[in-house]
Amino acid sequence: RHGSHLPPRSTQFTKPTQQHLDALKAISSSTLSTLDGSATEEELRSFNDDWMNKYHGKGSIVLKPKSTKEVGEIMKYCYENDLAVVPQGGNTGLVGGSNPVHDEIILNLSNLNQIRSFDEVSGVLVADGGVILEAADHFLAEKGFIFPLDLGAKGSCHIGGNVSTNAGGLRLLRYGSLHGSVLGLEVVLPDGRIWNGLSKLRKDNTGFDLKQLFIGSEGTIGIITAISILCPRRPSAMNVAVFSLESYEAVQKVYAEAKGHLGEILSAFEFFDKQSYALVKKHQEENGGERKVFETEGDFYCLIETGGSNSEHDEAKLTGLLEHLMENEMVLDGVLAQDSTQFQSLWSLRELVPESAGKAGSVYKYDVSVPVGKMYGLVEKMRAKLRDGGVLEGDGKAEGPIRAVAGYGHMGDGNLHINIVANKYTDEVEKIIEPYIYEIVAENEGSISAEHGLGVMKAPYIGYSKNETSVELMKQIKQLFDPKGLLNPYKYIV
Ligand code: FAD
Ligand code: MLT
Ligand code: ZN
Repeated sequence: RHGSHLPPRSTQFTKPTQQHLDALKAISSSTLSTLDGSATEEELRSFNDDWMNKYHGKGSIVLKPKSTKEVGEIMKYCYENDLAVVPQGGNTGLVGGSNPVHDEIILNLSNLNQIRSFDEVSGVLVADGGVILEAADHFLAEKGFIFPLDLGAKGSCHIGGNVSTNAGGLRLLRYGSLHGSVLGLEVVLPDGRIWNGLSKLRKDNTGFDLKQLFIGSEGTIGIITAISILCPRRPSAMNVAVFSLESYEAVQKVYAEAKGHLGEILSAFEFFDKQSYALVKKHQEENGGERKVFETEGDFYCLIETGGSNSEHDEAKLTGLLEHLMENEMVLDGVLAQDSTQFQSLWSLRELVPESAGKAGSVYKYDVSVPVGKMYGLVEKMRAKLRDGGVLEGDGKAEGPIRAVAGYGHMGDGNLHINIVANKYTDEVEKIIEPYIYEIVAENEGSISAEHGLGVMKAPYIGYSKNETSVELMKQIKQLFDPKGLLNPYKYIV
């Protein structure tokens, strides 16, 4: 849903004024606003616009509190004054969840960025919600540990944002979901109360596990000011290999072989199609990084990462897999990283897909999960639908409204990303894609949001993945935590 289709502004909320700003300035140690001239509209743009440049809020106040106490006082004031608030982390979300829809106050967590504690025996890290994911991982690397989540936006996204979206990412297959690794949370509730649920316990069956409600709640029932998370030891030996393949069937076979040969050291299995690879190559060429990776290119590619504690043992396993794949002609070509630079550059072939698609045009992004065998069929159906609608020319090669339809994702998690790259966001294109995409996901009993969340983009479509009773219970939960509906309105559950 772009601009014109967003829900209208609710009259329940007070319009922020200079008077509100003055009161908030007395609470929050850092504010930016067009109301008092401390910022221009241009300067607020990076807070109002989303990563895709698809959603554009009109917030006039940005607050950047430095402590949980400040967040609590801000929320108390906003609650008493019926002011709507959007919590914002690194603003890398892909469903229009982190920006105002209208004039909501932006509560940006980037100044809440301290590591609070780390226990080297248990591996439990306690840190503020605004710590950048990469910074948390660098801190852990020095201690021989790893953050149990990795994703392409790691240089900007916050760990509080990751928990709020229940981000999946590149190594979920190995480290599991945040629902398992997060041990506790500190949350400011919509009325300003601070909930201290910052447990460090692995086991705790005393009543409802409240923290689970906040994981993946996209800032609609509370603001995550700190997390406690269980971090595994960092594998001392890591390898990565990327293969070109001729078909999606071949990718599935290689996935099964990789699981069989690599067992517990398999840490990621990602796939991307030739359209995704073409976008990355073009992006790299434009940035002077052009180089030939494969002698034989294919219609599909897969990336396999291993991580273990014994390099000889891991290499023997990986070599065994490579020989098996080559001997049985299951892959067209393959490259194994020889050093850490090549490790990064092979990973970038996959990690750069979103950024490369973004550079190529306006991207309609879909993030779905369906059984692995059916995943790529959805991309083919989408292409056929766009071709029938007359907007996909020459399979994405010509200068039509749709420049490319790229399919890639986290194979090991049954999570497919479809990126439809258009000249610009238009009603014409959107009407062809939606709700068709959600219908074909529902036909396969899949999820319309595997890991990115609902935000404002998918809120109206939740019924394609959840039944009426589920949605009703979710609405009751929202009502319980936020009876005035002030926190991140117009999104998630509407
Ligand atoms: P934001 O974008 O700022 O916010 C996201 C949502 O969480 C919003 O609804 C916001 O209101 C809320 N929120 C943020 N912080 C808080 C808080 N402290 N308390 C309460 N609510 C909060 N996602 C994946 O799952 N897997 C991936 O592999 C992946 N890769 C990505 C790669 C790129 C290049 C990009 C741009 C995005 C990617 N994402 C991925 C999307 C993903 O959702 C985010 O990158 C990340 O989890 C969001 O964190 P953030 O701090 O940027 O949150
Ligand atoms: C990814 O897997 O690269 C992310 O979820 C981001 C995206 O698909 O745009
Ligand atoms: Zn993803």
